[in-house]
Amino acid sequence: MSDRTLRFVGVATSPRPGGSTERLATTALDAAASFARHHGYNAETDLVSLAGKRISPCTACMACSRNNTYCVIQDDWREAIERLIDPVPDGLVFAVPVYFGNHNALARAFIERCHCLVVRWWSPEFPYEVPDFSRTAAGALAIGGDRNGGQEPTILTTLQWFFHMGFVAVGGHPNIGAASWSQQPDNHVNGIEDVLGRESASLLGARVSKLAILLREGARAAKLPQLDKRNMEYSFSWGVSPGERYW
Ligand SMILES: Cc1cc2nc3c(=O)[nH]c(=O)nc-3n(C[C@H](O)[C@H](O)[C@H](O)COP(=O)(O)O)c2cc1C
Repeated sequence: MSDRTLRFVGVATSPRPGGSTERLATTALDAAASFARHHGYNAETDLVSLAGKRISPCTACMACSRNNTYCVIQDDWREAIERLIDPVPDGLVFAVPVYFGNHNALARAFIERCHCLVVRWWSPEFPYEVPDFSRTAAGALAIGGDRNGGQEPTILTTLQWFFHMGFVAVGGHPNIGAASWSQQPDNHVNGIEDVLGRESASLLGARVSKLAILLREGARAAKLPQLDKRNMEYSFSWGVSPGERYW
C-alpha cells in the first residue's frame, strides 16, 4: 500500500444484515475516506459486518497460552479479525447496536476472542507479536432503538476495549462518540431519519481520518519504526523499570 493511502475498517456488530448498525458504520467510513481524499490521500474502506456470522465467546480453554497458538475455536472470528490485524488499519470505526443498555452479544464475543492477540503481554514464548494499534485512530458508534436507550454506556464499553488494545481513541464532536437511534421496532426507519445521528457518525469518521493522518505524518516526521517493538519488550519484562527499557 502506498504511503499516501489510508485504510479505514468498520466493524458492525449487529446480527441483522443491512440494518442501522451497518448503515451508521458505512456513513462514518465514507466520511473518513472523503476527509482523507480532501487532504490529498487515497482512501480504502472495508466494512466487516458480523451479521450472519458465528462468533462464540471465549471459553477460557486457554489453548492459546498453553499451546502457543491463536484461538482454536473454529468459527467466523478469525476471518473477521484478520481484516483488523493483517495489516493493521489506519482508522477503525466500531459500530454496536444497543442491547439492554450496552454491547450486544456479538460485540462482546468478538472482543473476548481478542484475548489470544495479547497473550504475548505475559508470555514471551507466544510466537505472535501483539498487533501494534498505536498508529490506528479509533472511534465508537452506538445505535439504539430508542433515543436514550443506552448509547453512551455502549460507547464507553467500546472505548474501554480501545484502551485495552492500544488503539488511539477519538471522541465525538462534542460528545464521546457517535450516537443514533433507529426508532425500531415501531417504524423500522433504520436510522435514516435521525439526521443528528447520521451527522454524528460523519463527524466521527472525519475525526478518525484526521487523527489517522496526524499519526501517519507524526510517525514519519519522528522517524519512528513501523512497529514499535520496544512496547513489547517492556511488556515482557515485568519488574524492570520502564526507564531502563521503554525509551
Ligand atoms: C435483544 C434486543 C435488545 C435491545 N435493547 C435495546 C436497548 O436497551 N436500548 C435501545 O435503545 N434499543 C434496544 N434495542 C433496539 C436496537 O438497538 C435497535 O433496533 C438497533 O437499531 C438495532 O440495530 P440494527 O438495525 O443494526 O439491527 C434492542 C434490540 C434487541 C433485539
